[in-house]
Amino acid sequence: MKITVVGAGGNVGSAAALTVAQRDFANEVVLVDIERKEGEKTFYPSKGRALDQWQTSSIHGFDTRVKGTVNFEDTADSDICIITAGVPRKPGMSRDDLLSINANIVKTVTQSLVKYSPDTIIIVVSNPLDVMTYVAWKASGLPAEKVMGMAGILDTARYRAFLADELDVSPKDIQALILGGHGDTMVPLPRYTTVTGIPVTQLIEKDKLDAIIERTKVGGGELVGLMGTSAWFAPGAAAAQMAEAIALDQNRIFPCAAWLTGQYGINDLYVGVPVKLGKGGIKEIIEIELNADEQSMLDSSCSAVRTVFEDLERIQNG
Ligand code: NAI
Ligand code: 2OP
Repeated sequence: MKITVVGAGGNVGSAAALTVAQRDFANEVVLVDIERKEGEKTFYPSKGRALDQWQTSSIHGFDTRVKGTVNFEDTADSDICIITAGVPRKPGMSRDDLLSINANIVKTVTQSLVKYSPDTIIIVVSNPLDVMTYVAWKASGLPAEKVMGMAGILDTARYRAFLADELDVSPKDIQALILGGHGDTMVPLPRYTTVTGIPVTQLIEKDKLDAIIERTKVGGGELVGLMGTSAWFAPGAAAAQMAEAIALDQNRIFPCAAWLTGQYGINDLYVGVPVKLGKGGIKEIIEIELNADEQSMLDSSCSAVRTVFEDLERIQNG
């Protein structure tokens, strides 16, 4: 089992790669990034991160070989590729600029990946997530079940962590589901949130649960506010968990960005829904029953994703 992470000289990619290595389900994890020139010097972040991570192997106790490269040839025959490549928004850069730059990066790296691994499975992490997943799918030529986006596991993990604090229980015992796009319009579902099967609504007052839901929706922004850049440990771990489920054919049910063709009344859009993940990628998109309020929130979230998608089409068509 060979896993490649592109953008792994950066924060999320290196966290994903290290989690993959630590979980020890792959023979090899390849970290890819570009060279960075500073004056006369050239740095190789992917090679440096890989070497640093490999030097933790005897401490963490894993056998997964960790390799760093700037050449896509070294990614050949990857079973799973995680894409975290992109640029952060810089002062003076418009949202359209960021969308266009990241779309070009995701498209280019996807084409390079499938050139050397034509049957790979792709997990996209780069933002804006739902639309970048679409860009990767189109650039890959792969069937939709092999191209998916990571957001729901992260958003749900934040929700579960907040609930664990409030209820003073183990986060492991909290089961939860969040639908929709990766952004403030995401749709946490209290009706589908339990603590070892006990509906969370029986354990927490409504105003406290509402506050947790609101905090979850802006969970990414909370971390940007604290660190001046976006999170990486939880996003990286979430992407690695998807790779593990696929690599070990675990049939895990996770919320992931999947290509919808009528499910939930939504057509032709990548958006977060529960899927069964195992060998081959997305084995099934699971449709749960939603009440009118939940469906309306999901529809609003999909409209927000569609707006970004239309922005990208407008930019690309001049
Ligand atoms: P970062 O800036 O630390 O890392 C991005 C890396 O991509 C850099 O090392 C850069 O050199 C590399 N890169 C750029 N162009 C490349 C190319 N053509 N080929 C290979 N590598 C290339 O950023 P960070 O914090 O790791 O975030 C990465 C992406 O993940 C961002 O788009 C961020 O918004 C997104 N993100 C998504 C989350 C989600 O839930 N889906 C959560 C957190 C971050
Ligand atoms: C996050 O949710 C910003 O997407 C990034 O942390």
